[in-house]
Amino acid sequence: MRDGDKDALGTDIRLLGGMLGEVIRQVAGGNAFELEEHLRGRAKELRTSHSVEEARRLRDELERLELADLRTLIRAFTVFFDLVNLAEQRARIRVLRARTRQADPLPIAESVESALRQLRLRGVTAQQLQEFFAQAQLVPTFTAHPSEARRRTVLDKLRHMNQAMDQLERQDLLPRERERCRRDMKEEIESLWQSDLVRVLRPTVLDEVRHGLEVVEGTLLEVVPRLYRDLEDGMEKVYPELVGRLPSLVRFRSWIGGDRDGNPNVDHLTTAKTVAMHQQAILEVYLQRMNDLGRRLSQTTQFAPLSPELAASLKADCELLPEVSPSAGHEPYRLKCRAIVARLERTRRYLETLDLRWSEDPVAPPPGVYLGGDELHDDLRLMMDSLEASKAHAAANGALRDMARLVDVFGLHLMTLDIRQHSGRHTNALHEVFAWAGVCSHYATLSADEKFGLLASELESSRPLIPTHLPFSEETVEVIQTFRSIAAILERQCPEAVQTYIISLTTQPAHLLEVLLFCREAGLFRPSAGVSRLDIVPLFETLEALHSGVAILTQLLELPVYRRHVALRGDRQEVMIGYSDSNKESGFLQSVWALYRVQIELKEMGERAGVAVPFFHGRGGSIGRGGGPANKGIQAQPAGTVAGRLRLTEQGEMIADRYGHPAIAERHLDQVLHATLLASFPTEDAAPPADWEAIMERLASSSRGHYRALVYEDPDFLRYFEQATPIEEIAQLKLGSRPSRRTTSRRIDDLRAIPWVFSWMQSRHTLPGWYGLGSAMEEYINDEPNGLETLQAMYERWPFWNTAIANAEMILSKADLTIARLYADLVVDQRLASRVFGRIEQEYNRSVKMVCRVAKQGALLERMPVLQRSIQQRNPYVDPLSFIQTVLLRRLRSGDSGEELQAGVLESINGVAAGLKNTG
Ligand code: PGA
Repeated sequence: MRDGDKDALGTDIRLLGGMLGEVIRQVAGGNAFELEEHLRGRAKELRTSHSVEEARRLRDELERLELADLRTLIRAFTVFFDLVNLAEQRARIRVLRARTRQADPLPIAESVESALRQLRLRGVTAQQLQEFFAQAQLVPTFTAHPSEARRRTVLDKLRHMNQAMDQLERQDLLPRERERCRRDMKEEIESLWQSDLVRVLRPTVLDEVRHGLEVVEGTLLEVVPRLYRDLEDGMEKVYPELVGRLPSLVRFRSWIGGDRDGNPNVDHLTTAKTVAMHQQAILEVYLQRMNDLGRRLSQTTQFAPLSPELAASLKADCELLPEVSPSAGHEPYRLKCRAIVARLERTRRYLETLDLRWSEDPVAPPPGVYLGGDELHDDLRLMMDSLEASKAHAAANGALRDMARLVDVFGLHLMTLDIRQHSGRHTNALHEVFAWAGVCSHYATLSADEKFGLLASELESSRPLIPTHLPFSEETVEVIQTFRSIAAILERQCPEAVQTYIISLTTQPAHLLEVLLFCREAGLFRPSAGVSRLDIVPLFETLEALHSGVAILTQLLELPVYRRHVALRGDRQEVMIGYSDSNKESGFLQSVWALYRVQIELKEMGERAGVAVPFFHGRGGSIGRGGGPANKGIQAQPAGTVAGRLRLTEQGEMIADRYGHPAIAERHLDQVLHATLLASFPTEDAAPPADWEAIMERLASSSRGHYRALVYEDPDFLRYFEQATPIEEIAQLKLGSRPSRRTTSRRIDDLRAIPWVFSWMQSRHTLPGWYGLGSAMEEYINDEPNGLETLQAMYERWPFWNTAIANAEMILSKADLTIARLYADLVVDQRLASRVFGRIEQEYNRSVKMVCRVAKQGALLERMPVLQRSIQQRNPYVDPLSFIQTVLLRRLRSGDSGEELQAGVLESINGVAAGLKNTG
């Protein structure tokens, strides 16, 4: 960041901070403001001493305050963070603009154009690139994972303020306009101060769907056409021999309303409703755009002759659509726009009255209705080609082309909805079906091989198992209805609406066959008719599942009926890999390494079987859940595993962070595309030497050993975790529609990954992101004569290892062991607390030391000054929130159960999350 940018950031923060100060004085009084200033000053001093004793003194001082004062303090720091985050977002946008201005005409770093230039240098030919674009698919997938702590109301207010600040930057603003902007901002800050900062009501699934829609409507519809224009411009500069429009390689998917794993609030009706909401939203957009185009495209046949193809299609339209008056025949483009509007309206009416009840016989929709995006796209293309032929280049390539791009990317479905369900649900449902049908009375207790054998023979035969009327338990009926409603949606509503069924906790081949059997029963898999409508995707997340991924898929691909299904899906078997659960089970290093290895092994297996294996990366925002910069993460994937096909989840707080503003969303997608292009054409030497892989194997397994020795084998650890983190209180946060636990068990194994990481983040230990790493490296360096030099060489030359260390460095910097010690003070048995904390602290120090040595630097983040500064500037404000949180937790746990107190704890959790910019 240049000095000017820093100044602008400082000015924004002062402006916002000043307004907040005014609001605090006005609403909460001068004393509240003084108290906040005092606490901030004390916390700042503490930052220099890092003394636990001093920290305890400050905590004890806070201990004497009334709850109401503590809550006011929480509010002051939390709102301040919301404002700082806004200022930082604005600074990012400023930097992006300045960089683009400076770089021009050269491409900016990590952009699509810079990737294309590198590919040219690597000798990638135009032909190769064309083939790549023909099959490439980059698919960010939005999920409703409950890790966005901020309410939508808060995000809305911030967005509003952002607009007012944009206005303020205009040079030609009149004094009264300036005053109005300031008043607007003040109004928002004041109402932020007086609003609930945490959610009082749990959002429903449909609330979450609406939230997802806002992202698309707010940013993506604007960004996507621009992104492709830049891509096409870049191509024209670097590969001028490749002419023509580029296929849409970035598409978006969603899990919101489709992911039912552990969320009883998502059922088949919700899923159908979600698809309908997606469709209504995009139809609305298209109607608006087509009406607008109808006004613009006033070319007449006299001055812009129309193509015979468009003439024929207009004729057909007029016959089909009596509601379109052909009187505007001399303005054929207008007429065509009206015809499209009429068809879109018919589609909308059709969808509103659609009966989605499943039946075995497909019912065709009425004439004139667009069932998918293809027909609409064809209509637009006819217009573009005809305009182009009549030399109306600007009209052919302007708003009409953007509309065509939207249709290509968003179709009539907006985002394809993935379905995800836990493997156990299918096993149980099938157990009941088999027993009822007299096939097997004890399916659930069969061995993995027996299950496989039974399913294979059922799939080979064609006898139906499930009657139309469903005489089963509620759970089983819901599983069956899910498949049936997908079939009805695809048949009657939109063929692109759902394409994938993901099975979480896949551990054996039968888990995929179970789903295939349900597909067959619902008519989604009809091999004799050459139809298989869903990709069945295993989600491998435990270490054991990751290790047996190859065996599982090999066995499946050797089974003719499964292989036939894969052939019908284009000889492609997508695999999803889960970062969080493997991390929770095995620690950071073993997890990322196992994920790396399994990709190589599955890719090789795919090559042997003649099947492409694209990967879907299930990663969250924080490092302990596979987070970190997306661009680096993609380039760190094993050579040859990306090959133009990549899916990744965009979850929780990352959605607002990456897609909350069009300029930032555009940059994010540009970087992700850049990384995908480079990773798809790896250099010859991209694969690491075999001995480095062997070293990683050793480091990973040793790190796992250290991690598990603490987390799973230390008998006191669970108690420490429950008492030294706000895990119980996090479960009360109403961040999402799904419950925070799958079961009522207290075991770490059964806890979902989000609250696990979330609670370590709050208590400032951040251990899921690094624990075990330090010991593994230290052992290696001590045991091997040139150990340190080797790890340093790996860091310099191997993106995988470099990224792992950089991510660990980032999360180690967010830890604060002085404050973590105050959380340890909450543990009732202090001997236990000191012992467990001591272990963690030692490993922390070791990890910091080792990371610095391997990265050859004196302190963490030395080479990431922007992040370092951001963390340093934030800490004096985050720390008071942590102090207050420990005070409130102590009161809560000593039996005070007042609602106000509980609210205070939840508010402090929300505040720390805003301050650390990561939740779980
Ligand atoms: P899951 O996600 O619990 O929905 O599988 C885990 C995560 O994203 O951390």
